[in-house]
Amino acid sequence: MPDTGDRRIELGVEGNIATIRINRPDKLNALDFDMVLALERAAALADNEAAVRAVIITGAGEKSFCAGGDIEQWSSWSAEDFAMKWVRQGHRAFDALARLRHPLIAAINGHCLGGGLEVAITADLRIAEEHVKLGQPESGLGIIAGWSGTQRAVRRYGAQLVRRMALAGEVFDAATSLSLGMVDKVVPKGTSLEAAKALATQIAGRSPSATRLTKLLINAAEGEEREAALETMGGFVAADSGDLAKGLEAFRNRRKAEF
Ligand code: COA
Repeated sequence: MPDTGDRRIELGVEGNIATIRINRPDKLNALDFDMVLALERAAALADNEAAVRAVIITGAGEKSFCAGGDIEQWSSWSAEDFAMKWVRQGHRAFDALARLRHPLIAAINGHCLGGGLEVAITADLRIAEEHVKLGQPESGLGIIAGWSGTQRAVRRYGAQLVRRMALAGEVFDAATSLSLGMVDKVVPKGTSLEAAKALATQIAGRSPSATRLTKLLINAAEGEEREAALETMGGFVAADSGDLAKGLEAFRNRRKAEF
């Protein structure tokens, strides 16, 4: 199993499917700072696995996908550390997840609150078990949803749904989340990982190159990574042209390229 730097963030690769598992069930998979660092590393490792065609993210145990950031940890920090360490590192990790070149599927196996919802939002597709609850409790704790819960969440869910969760504290059950488009499928308790693997296998059977480019284009349309998307497309075309081969050959032979 590739080492993410924290045993509570596991990364497993089976054939062409990678699975990231948040494994801290005694704290309902709440994320502390080291776990957020490891999530970023897990995303980078999964992104670079040559055989991988789809990635799943899920939580350990049957009660919680992720109950958010570790309240005990961040609430003991200074305002500056909260902002500059906690919030910014969350952005690095969650951007890495949202910008994985492979499609990301969230298998939401339980509570999906605060930072947990922000993890789920990074996914391209979401499968929820019938007992899950989705919400943004942060303002009830005197804090904001700082890991993109007011930004990517608005882009992906629409501002009004985010207002209902983040301002009014509404918590949505699985059936309501499905009807609102917050999750794509609801499955019986204990079966989200299996359903996510079936979906990942379906994705893996399609053209990997077209799938990755399509994900990038959808992300760009959503404002997720426009600059990187443009240069990725440019890089693809340039690297595929005969000119690059000529340029490299000339460089290796210490002469000027003739195009
Ligand atoms: N941060 C740190 N610890 C957390 C946590 C979080 N976000 N969410 C749960 N835990 C811990 C609890 O403190 C408890 O630890 P303990 O057994 O050492 O006392 C353990 O996980 C189990 O949680 P508990 O509250 O006993 O479970 P429950 O079934 O009664 O309630 C929730 C479940 C999800 C409703 C409740 O845990 C909760 O409200 N968690 C916070 C959710 C939240 O506000 N997230 C946003 C953070 S910004």
